[in-house]
Amino acid sequence: MAKTQTESGAAGAAAATLEKPDTKASAAGAAAPALDITDSRTGKAYSVPIMAEGVVGDTTIRAMDLRKIKTAPDEFGLMTYDPAFMNTASCKSAITYIDGDNGILRYRGYPIEQLAENATFLEVAWLLRHGELPNKDEYKQWVRDVTYHTYVHENIKSFLQGFRYDAHPMSMLCSTVAALSSFYPEAKNIADPEQRNISIIRLLAKVPTLAAFAYRHVKGLPFIYPDNNLSYVENFLSMVARMSESQYAGNPVFVKALEVLFILHADHEQNCSTNAVRAVGSSHVDPFSAVAAGIAALFGPLHGGANEQVLRMINEIGHVKNVPAFIESVKGGSGRLMGFGHRVYKSYDPRAKIVKKLAYEVFEQVGMDKDLEIALELERIALSDDYFVSRKLYPNVDFYTGLIYRSMAFPTDFFTVLFAVARTAGWLSQWEEMLNDKEQKIARPRQIYVGPGERAYKSRIK
Ligand code: CMC
Repeated sequence: MAKTQTESGAAGAAAATLEKPDTKASAAGAAAPALDITDSRTGKAYSVPIMAEGVVGDTTIRAMDLRKIKTAPDEFGLMTYDPAFMNTASCKSAITYIDGDNGILRYRGYPIEQLAENATFLEVAWLLRHGELPNKDEYKQWVRDVTYHTYVHENIKSFLQGFRYDAHPMSMLCSTVAALSSFYPEAKNIADPEQRNISIIRLLAKVPTLAAFAYRHVKGLPFIYPDNNLSYVENFLSMVARMSESQYAGNPVFVKALEVLFILHADHEQNCSTNAVRAVGSSHVDPFSAVAAGIAALFGPLHGGANEQVLRMINEIGHVKNVPAFIESVKGGSGRLMGFGHRVYKSYDPRAKIVKKLAYEVFEQVGMDKDLEIALELERIALSDDYFVSRKLYPNVDFYTGLIYRSMAFPTDFFTVLFAVARTAGWLSQWEEMLNDKEQKIARPRQIYVGPGERAYKSRIK
């Protein structure tokens, strides 16, 4: 192997970026880990420190170290090209851990299976934000705070009336959450921990109210105000479903199922919508606007919109006998098997396992969903088909959630709203972590310009 030489100038600067040496390695006489690069354009050699960070020692290099690699002092320097952030860590985070190869998901170290089995959603929301499970007093205060901020300004109601009867509830949710920023202008003081705290409480408290109001608007039903005597999940169901009864009493199986689904959806590290919240929040805009950006990102069919698409796909398939032909059409390139595949999970999504089990529990209560048979057959064939196996495409969280939501009588276009209610907890934790991270600045990627060179203006309309 070529001996690494440290040059003066650019290469020297690169060498100067070496992190403090790994003490264990130094004691043993070994050099701190580094990536040795020789630039064939100049013949210069560089040593770029390799950081082994995090609990599992993920290895990374700092992209900025590459900027020292240049052919002339006034050149910009080497960039990395990574469309869709396929191999770029944009932050250090202590919130959620995913091991996509082994199907592991943990919030703050706690396995998702244990949280889904034992915790409440608000307990998890606290955990995500604070890093530890709340004690009794903290939990009591937290539940009280969130419960007592569930009401929204009455003007929101007239604002919602402006939407057409068939408006998508995600559009309504996105707009009303963004509108909240105008009701709480002090929320822009994001450097003030108290303002951050009250904004986080307000968002967690009011997003379910706005979501339920969106539902009632589409149905042409009167809005139901929050009931502070109910739990977070039961109150949400009450605002969605209550009619003339004086107090709503949720079906305990549904309440439990929704609590679990909210926990499963609460965070998922740097997914598209969380990345949107962090990127928009990095401009130091208020959190209502940043969360509205997350809702917009979640709306897309490749992200939170997938659960809605799964049911549409199942409807289109129509009968279990049509499944093989449908699988063939997907393999032939006409569309995707919705609810399958994931950027990070290259094995069975651990959330999908829990959701599948939950689906059986709910169906025991309300009767088997007619489309479960189609879903199971799709899964069976896909998991034994080389197209899906070789691409490591397994069911993701969205594959079975839609069936549960439908059996609970939620309309299809409301599924993503349910996802958004839960993910608000994760977005806010990630947003605050980003603000407290001294290394973070306004998110501003580079580009490779591929347009025309300079040219003189010559009108084409005169
Ligand atoms: N059905 C059929 N083929 C697929 C699918 C699918 N669902 N997903 C990926 N592929 C194929 C894709 O065509 C490609 O094949 P080839 O190498 O021959 O070109 C290969 O698998 C790799 O796909 P990719 O698009 O490079 O993978 P990605 O990591 O960019 O996409 C994904 C991840 C989730 C967007 C994608 O798997 C997908 O579109 N799935 C369906 C939508 C869905 O269920 N989304 C929910 C994701 S989980 C919850 C959430 O994030 O909100």
